[in-house]
Amino acid sequence: MAQFAWTDDLTTGSSLIDGDHRKLVELVNAFFQAMQSGQGNAQVSKAMKHLIAYTGEHFAREEAEMARIQYVAALAHRAEHTKLIKQLVELKEMQDAGGRMNTPAVADFLSLWLREHILAADMKLATALKQRKSAPAQQLH
Ligand SMILES: [Fe+2]
Repeated sequence: MAQFAWTDDLTTGSSLIDGDHRKLVELVNAFFQAMQSGQGNAQVSKAMKHLIAYTGEHFAREEAEMARIQYVAALAHRAEHTKLIKQLVELKEMQDAGGRMNTPAVADFLSLWLREHILAADMKLATALKQRKSAPAQQLH
């Protein structure tokens, strides 16, 4: 199974977001590795736990930035986050209950989600953060 490959087009230009994304990709790949290593459910479950926890923290940081700049597309962006967390939690619950994950399908889904979310939603957020930063102070209020 392919690992998630970082490509330069995923760089948003926001150091906060990009730093988080690098770490997120590491955890996604650790999860993929656990799935394909055949080390058993406990390892996969542990990797998923780490991934879900960090994803939650990262989303919370992005959402705090959205609130700070009163980002117009915050609602739609948050909805994407909420949906993914729900899907990951459901997947983990299924895994913990002894269900069999369709490993390639899960990996494809997660890779595609991450790439598309970064290239669309996160890129727009990073642009808004940059614009806000460069706006003269008197325009901020
Ligand atoms: Fe996001």
